[in-house]
Amino acid sequence: MRRRLRIVHVGPDALADVVALHRRCSAYTLWSRYHRAMGDPETYLGTLLGRPGALHLAVRVPHSGLVAIGHVMPDGDRAEVALLVQDGWQNQGLGTRLLRRLACESRRLGWAELYGLVLPGERRISAMLRHGDVAADHVTEHGVTTVQVATSGLGTVCGTRCADAIRAFGAVRR
Ligand SMILES: CC(C)(COP(=O)(O)OP(=O)(O)OC[C@H]1O[C@@H](n2cnc3c(N)ncnc32)[C@H](O)[C@@H]1OP(=O)(O)O)[C@@H](O)C(=O)NCCC(=O)NCCS
Repeated sequence: MRRRLRIVHVGPDALADVVALHRRCSAYTLWSRYHRAMGDPETYLGTLLGRPGALHLAVRVPHSGLVAIGHVMPDGDRAEVALLVQDGWQNQGLGTRLLRRLACESRRLGWAELYGLVLPGERRISAMLRHGDVAADHVTEHGVTTVQVATSGLGTVCGTRCADAIRAFGAVRR
């Protein structure tokens, strides 16, 4: 099954598939992602997928559609990373694989810092970062923890294949 997973770029034309992914997620998973009740995903995902300069990668599985999605969203000279894995597909390494690819492409695009917003006590993101030699800053304010890493430190999370891809695409600006 794992060999049939594909990580694909998605954009506004994938709106229906991304909406369907959100509708298959539990309220708890959506709360963990957005930290608030979001209502009908059709009302906000078009804006998210159309956000200028943003990068969206998803995991596609034959006969199951999209089962996970990750975003990198520019915010000044850094960028926010967000991940969503469908409940039945969690804890199988998909979030880690998406983060690696997003880190790889972020470095290629020249973002110096990435940050993610997680609920306090969320240990899976920290577990992912422990795979690399990455020093992460954690700041908790108003019930949300910001986890920030320098993309220059993401090389080992990114992995050799990504590092090769970065070299192939050219210089990293920062
Ligand atoms: C958080 C999330 C992205 C992680 O993706 P995932 O595919 O489920 O995670 P992975 O399978 O890649 O596992 C990541 C690590 O967390 C560890 N982990 C899993 N469950 C854990 C738990 N309850 N406590 C501590 N670590 C845990 C895994 O063992 C793995 O570490 P390892 O590789 O050292 O074994 C996913 O669960 C998700 O979408 N959750 C809801 C939305 C969310 O919280 N998004 C993050 C904020 S934007």
